[in-house]
Amino acid sequence: MNDSSRVVTIVGQGYVGLPLAQAASAAGWKVFGLDVSDAVVARLNAGESHVDDLSNEDIATMVENGYEATVDASVVAESNVVVICVPTPLGDAGAPDLKYVESACQNVGEHLTEDTLVILESTTYPGTTEDFCVPILEGKSGLRAGSDFQVAFSPERVDPGSKHFGIKNTPKLVGGINPVSAERTAAFYSDFVDEVVPLSGTREAESAKLLENTFRHVNIALVNELTRVFHEMDIDVWEVIRGASTKPFGFMKFTPGAGVGGHCIPIDPGYLSYEVRRNLGYPLRFVELAQEINNSAPNYVVQRIAELLNADRKPISGSTVLLLGVTYKPDISDQRESPAVPIAEELLKRGANLKYHDPFVEGWRLNSGDTIMRSSELKEAVADADVVVLLQGHSQYDLEVIEAASKLFLDTTGKSKIPSNRL
Ligand SMILES: NC(=O)c1ccc[n+]([C@@H]2O[C@H](COP(=O)([O-])OP(=O)(O)OC[C@H]3O[C@@H](n4cnc5c(N)ncnc54)[C@H](O)[C@@H]3O)[C@@H](O)[C@H]2O)c1
Repeated sequence: MNDSSRVVTIVGQGYVGLPLAQAASAAGWKVFGLDVSDAVVARLNAGESHVDDLSNEDIATMVENGYEATVDASVVAESNVVVICVPTPLGDAGAPDLKYVESACQNVGEHLTEDTLVILESTTYPGTTEDFCVPILEGKSGLRAGSDFQVAFSPERVDPGSKHFGIKNTPKLVGGINPVSAERTAAFYSDFVDEVVPLSGTREAESAKLLENTFRHVNIALVNELTRVFHEMDIDVWEVIRGASTKPFGFMKFTPGAGVGGHCIPIDPGYLSYEVRRNLGYPLRFVELAQEINNSAPNYVVQRIAELLNADRKPISGSTVLLLGVTYKPDISDQRESPAVPIAEELLKRGANLKYHDPFVEGWRLNSGDTIMRSSELKEAVADADVVVLLQGHSQYDLEVIEAASKLFLDTTGKSKIPSNRL
């Protein structure tokens, strides 16, 4: 039985909102999963998952425990807590696109009742909660934030596909618009998160999330740039990283790759640099440099493919290139911002006969066309290809077998035991 003081609406039932719904539901909360997509809602109510980290059984258990997915925002009026987990992409010219946050706040505001706590989890630039969300919530509800209802920001830190870290054992940052908001938010998350860390305000919580992702972005850019330099200098970058990583303090390991993907690393630092430019009128140089380097990583991979083929007296044009793993990270099906797409498009532009294999992606649509490519049969495709390129090391790939069967092999993940095959 759910208790009427523990009713939460989670707005946005995607990679972030759905696992949160599961955690709150398991902790005894009555959970409404509010989404704008009829298809998502229908699938969830039928006990079907659409994200990697949750199985159909997980959803069925949630439904048994009273979870309800819905497109009807009036459930907000029955809720003590509302958590907003909608997308925050980049729009034209790399500017933050808050249209989903805006419409979510409008819907919530229209049904908001006194004493409700509204929490924003979507990653965004500092000031969004107080300067963007609060005026919409107040305007639509006629209520006053801080007295009639409470508001906080608490960034989502989920690492999709991680076997080690989930909602429970990842500390949760909380920044409220006032102490009451912060305390109520901390109490909500404490029901299913081991450690809640209160920060002094919403801007600090928004910025902490951006610092985390910018830190990763910048350090990935550093190793991506060193990869190119060391390759020219005939130094094995993977050995360099292996050596440096043995230092037990003052160093953190980052590895090069085909480029940065996913919903966070390629996008979130852009929110920060855009806001710095807009507010202060000057660039956030670290972020802009990291973007330049990481955005050119896919082209660098194509350059290395060309070098390999060239050494075999073959041009890219007319050669069969097989890409293995087109998701943005191993062992998940998420393709958002995957560097495989710009690599494929550049190869096609240069006339390659392009093939791919991915156990998680049956059909693959590139930006440039309406055609959906189909995943090849692995063994046959490896034997046929002039060059095989490992983009994501999905654990079901037997690297040694694939490498031995390939005419030429480029490993962008650093897993190959043959140094000359590595990026
Ligand atoms: N995916 C991650 O790994 C991750 C990690 C940390 C933070 N985040 C952040 O969390 C936020 C959500 O990301 P996600 O990956 O869950 O996105 P997602 O695309 O997987 O899911 C978002 C869901 O919100 C729904 N939606 C859109 N507008 C809506 C509205 N107005 N009302 C109700 N539902 C609406 C969509 O239909 C979709 O089902 C983003 O700000 C993202 O940056 C994501």
